[in-house]
Amino acid sequence: MAKFVVSYVVLFLFCIFQQSNAASASYNVIKFGAKPDGKTDSTQPFLKAWSAACSSASPSTIYVPKGRYLLKATVFRGPCKNKITVQIDGTLVAPTDYRALGNSGYWILFIKVNRVSVFGGTLDAKGAGFWACRKSGQNCPVGARSITFNWANDILISGLTSINSQSMHLVINSCNNVLVRNVRVIAPDQSPNTDGIHVQTSTGVTITGSTLQTGDDCISIGPSTRNMLMSSIKCGPGHGISIGSLGKEFNEGGVENITLTNSIFSGSDNGVRIKSWARPSNGFVRNVVFQNLIMKNVENPIIIDQNYCPNNQGCPRQSSGVKISQVTYRNIQGTSATPEAVTFHCSPSNPCRGIKLQDIKLTYLNTAATSSCKNIGGTSSGVLMPESCV
Ligand SMILES: *[C@@H]1O[C@H](CO)[C@@H](O)[C@H](O)[C@H]1NC(C)=O
Repeated sequence: MAKFVVSYVVLFLFCIFQQSNAASASYNVIKFGAKPDGKTDSTQPFLKAWSAACSSASPSTIYVPKGRYLLKATVFRGPCKNKITVQIDGTLVAPTDYRALGNSGYWILFIKVNRVSVFGGTLDAKGAGFWACRKSGQNCPVGARSITFNWANDILISGLTSINSQSMHLVINSCNNVLVRNVRVIAPDQSPNTDGIHVQTSTGVTITGSTLQTGDDCISIGPSTRNMLMSSIKCGPGHGISIGSLGKEFNEGGVENITLTNSIFSGSDNGVRIKSWARPSNGFVRNVVFQNLIMKNVENPIIIDQNYCPNNQGCPRQSSGVKISQVTYRNIQGTSATPEAVTFHCSPSNPCRGIKLQDIKLTYLNTAATSSCKNIGGTSSGVLMPESCV
């Protein structure tokens, strides 16, 4: 009996020891050989730190101290045994020659990870060389997205800054339960396809408190996206916040339950936009709320465009199959940079339904702006400037 009690006590103490040890697994990339000089390739040391954290049975932290770390295209692969926190006090820099990221399409890629949190950090992708290549019409690689999460769940990205991505800055693809907060994206307003945050095939994505200044959409939302909340966003320069382009494919998952609230657009090409290809599709957009928004000198503050057909390739004289319904625009105020502040050009074959306008006040050069409607049904209430065409 005494022997049994002793072994029980030993087991108990062992468990306490394990628990107190639980939060302390920490992997500093410097210990794995990373060099904070911005010149030495630190890809392998980062991967070794990841591999140690990923196989740790207890929660672990990967620590990146101050300094600049050169990283090539890098894949952080899961699943891992426990939670991982990546604390970045430094800057990750891409190779100066844009071709070094090759045709992989990504720079930093997380695949099949769960319960990963990334705190802080700056990503400097040095995209200018790649944009220049595209502009000159040479044969260029596809372009790398700076940070991508594929097939990931329970992700937190907090306080990250992304500068000059070659293409999209942050991509959330096939993920569940992602919180993006206090993120900053910075790229010139003429940099091509540098969307700030792109979300698709995902559920439960929240983006809050973020400032997005870039050359394409501040946030773009692709097919099969549900239950997304965006709040306290500052957008501009950029192409605005877009649902779409949708309906490029015939078989496509819809977009539903999307809310954008308490946000500011400054000098952007669009404010809130829904965009679909003029092609047959079984896609849809429904249950969307755009509310409490301020527009400052925005070219198209409110726009639905279902006639997207770039270069008239593969869609002329066709009509969009994407069904848009139950979209609410509430308390949207400010200035339009063009006379037409509200544009609803819906599909002739699939008119927009249940569009609600409430308390809209948009001016152009201190006078009421105008609105234009095609193929739309819905209701309007409250103060409406421009006069509603719904
Ligand atoms: C809509 O999305 C929000 C998250 O933004 C979620 O809390 C809510 O449960 C969703 N509603 C439905 C009906 O799924």
